Amino acid sequence: MNEIKMQLTEKLDGAKETERQHMYMEKAKGYVETLAGKLNRTPTCCVTTFGCQMNARDSEKLAGILEKAGYRLIDDEDADFVIYNTCTVRDNANQRVYGRLGFLNSLKKKNPHKKVALCGCMMQEPSVIDKIRHSYRFVDLIFGTHNIYKFAELLVAMFESKEMIIDIWEDTDQIVEDLPIERKYPFKSGINIMFGCNNFCSYCIVPYVRGRERSRNPQDIIREIEELVADGVVEVMLLGQNVNSYGKNLDEPMTFAQLLQEVEKIEGLERIRFMTSHPKDLSDELIQVMKDSKKICRHLHLPLQSGSTRILERMNRRYTKQQYLDLALKIRKEIPDIAITTDIIVGFPGETKEDVDETIDVVQKVKYDNAFTFIYSKRTGTPAAAMEDQVPEEVVKEGFDRLLKVVQDTARERVSLLKGQTLKALVEEVNEQDEELLTGRLSNNTIVHFKGDKELVGKIVSVYLKECHGFYYIGELV
Ligand code: SAH
Ligand code: SF4
Ligand code: F3S
Repeated sequence: MNEIKMQLTEKLDGAKETERQHMYMEKAKGYVETLAGKLNRTPTCCVTTFGCQMNARDSEKLAGILEKAGYRLIDDEDADFVIYNTCTVRDNANQRVYGRLGFLNSLKKKNPHKKVALCGCMMQEPSVIDKIRHSYRFVDLIFGTHNIYKFAELLVAMFESKEMIIDIWEDTDQIVEDLPIERKYPFKSGINIMFGCNNFCSYCIVPYVRGRERSRNPQDIIREIEELVADGVVEVMLLGQNVNSYGKNLDEPMTFAQLLQEVEKIEGLERIRFMTSHPKDLSDELIQVMKDSKKICRHLHLPLQSGSTRILERMNRRYTKQQYLDLALKIRKEIPDIAITTDIIVGFPGETKEDVDETIDVVQKVKYDNAFTFIYSKRTGTPAAAMEDQVPEEVVKEGFDRLLKVVQDTARERVSLLKGQTLKALVEEVNEQDEELLTGRLSNNTIVHFKGDKELVGKIVSVYLKECHGFYYIGELV
């Protein structure tokens, strides 16, 4: 065996673990300084995100620890340390990682000091680890989703070993607070409010790679947001696989709607977003809190997955077509200016043309402001992967194209309704194609481009929505 598997260290309480990891950050700094001496410059690092917002937030944690250890963060995989934070929700996410690993190997051959690490959801799958162990021997460090807080300790282990280090845990109930985080945007930030998922939708790998649902304490969440606001953040996105079940497993249970009301009180915070809502747990209390709020954005992501009750049952989604429709239309009635977006899967085992018709019917009734449509991807180990009636590719493609057209037509129709209004936008960046333009995001998540000074990035401004271009607007600063 020429690789080292880390031992499961004795579990410490959260605060002690934080202290321990800070000690490892200091130790890692020593190694990075030695490397700087050899290179005669500050060593660089690059963190590449492959997955969802939660994956992106984890990348900010990795970046925070790397900076603390003395690396300079760059956006180029030519860096001295490269870490891929992987995703495995659909097979194409995995294929992208394998494809790019070959390229990393060629870079590593040119830089003898280069180190390569892999982490994230894909690493929680034993078959992936086997494959990397055999076919990608140049990788220096592999860990999973449950022990990301130990990254500093793992970095030190990597510097002290010539072998491949592998440390994967099956699950954890540990939440470690107060580790450094390097944000991508100074003015907006994701915040984990819970980890894991207990829903086991029959197609989905997430519960297997992210473990059981655990909520963070409200005090820790509020404190983190207060610190972010003091550091210039005006918009937060509360993150969880199913935010509507937040707080159920806390010592003092609390609902998601109650948490939102606490977050609303934070002075200086201007906008609150959240992701993702499971329709089966979305309460009237939440609709009321959203309706009354001045800070919660007018946007709800409400994954449908399928409009066919028969398929929903096989998906283990625990709502029917009618229940979903009743909920979505109730929200539209209560909060007329809200944008509703969704996720839909086409080609789930056993899905027929009639099932796709049911999905299209829901799209036509709800009129989503935007919808992400995915082709079903078989994930080994999930119940759906073992179902016999997998749908042939050409049938999936036909259903997918039919659905996509309706989704695009209804979204265009919804977005065009904003024409002529003047609304608030958070300026996110200078437009990549045209430096004279700024790109802003409306409360309802629609994008608007308009002329303005780059000093406005991070500010909330009023914009007149002049021309609708399908899914975005060209506007004028008011
Ligand atoms: N927790 C969120 C979604 C997490 S995954 C929720 O419950 O909605 C994001 C999206 O990926 C899902 O909404 C689903 O549409 C899609 N997805 C998940 N597993 C998939 C699979 N096996 N094949 C295709 N799409 C999938
Ligand atoms: Fe996957 Fe369902 Fe959990 Fe979302 S709620 S992460 S789709 S199992
Ligand atoms: Fe997110 Fe992908 Fe993991 S969607 S939770 S990074 S499998």
